[in-house]
Amino acid sequence: MILVLLGAPGAGKGTQAEALAAATGAAHVATGDLFRAEIAAGSELGRSAASYIDAGRLVPDEVTVGMISARLAQPDAASRVILDGFPRNTAQVAALDAAFAASGRAISAIFLKVDVGILTARLTGRRVCSSCGRSFHVESRPPAVAGVCDACGAALITRRDDAPETVAARLANQLSALDEVVENYRSSGRLQVVEGVGEIAAIQARLATAARAVGFGS
Ligand code: AP5
Repeated sequence: MILVLLGAPGAGKGTQAEALAAATGAAHVATGDLFRAEIAAGSELGRSAASYIDAGRLVPDEVTVGMISARLAQPDAASRVILDGFPRNTAQVAALDAAFAASGRAISAIFLKVDVGILTARLTGRRVCSSCGRSFHVESRPPAVAGVCDACGAALITRRDDAPETVAARLANQLSALDEVVENYRSSGRLQVVEGVGEIAAIQARLATAARAVGFGS
């Protein structure tokens, strides 16, 4: 089964997907993480993706769909997968459906609903580990020691696309496509909505309940 976790930039997809994957043993596949790994490796795909990511725009579908298809073909994605950051427009929804139509693998979506007004503070206050990628927030999820990752002790950094001007571009460029994706899953009877504002642990509990309702439990 594939569980698609939908949400605006900063809605908490990564935070919640990481916890749900740990609780259920599912693979957590995040397109943003895949792009950042390609950029760090200096690959051609990474160089091409970086120009779009730095501008707060979606990377073209032909690049994104090819990359995610290769990732989903890996053995750890053969059973249960949490998709974080994909699909992000109607064409990507269709590509995902087409990829699994023959196998009959179920696809269910959960929309993490967060008021747009609080997304900017979540994104600009985010700090990520330069080594293991774990995400923190200067106010809502601070590390025990400022600037140091709780999990591995490496330095925390600010993602380049969390600069205020890029955050503004991401929100301006990407929210209408998200609306279309949400509507697509709603109209095909595959959508649940989970309130994404509040304590991280409380959202985690709501998300786990919604996931269990579609057979995605521990
Ligand atoms: P991606 O990395 O996927 O970025 P995003 O979707 O914009 O999402 P984020 O990772 O910024 O936020 P999140 O929802 O995971 O929130 P998080 O849990 O970290 O993509 C980056 C770029 O790659 C895109 O802009 C695009 O260019 C490209 N791309 C990716 N996928 C693509 C695709 N399919 N097609 C084309 N292009 C694609 O939380 C955010 C912060 O809030 C953290 O600091 C966290 O600690 C804090 N927080 C979380 N929950 C709470 C809470 N309940 N209360 C308070 N703070 C909280």
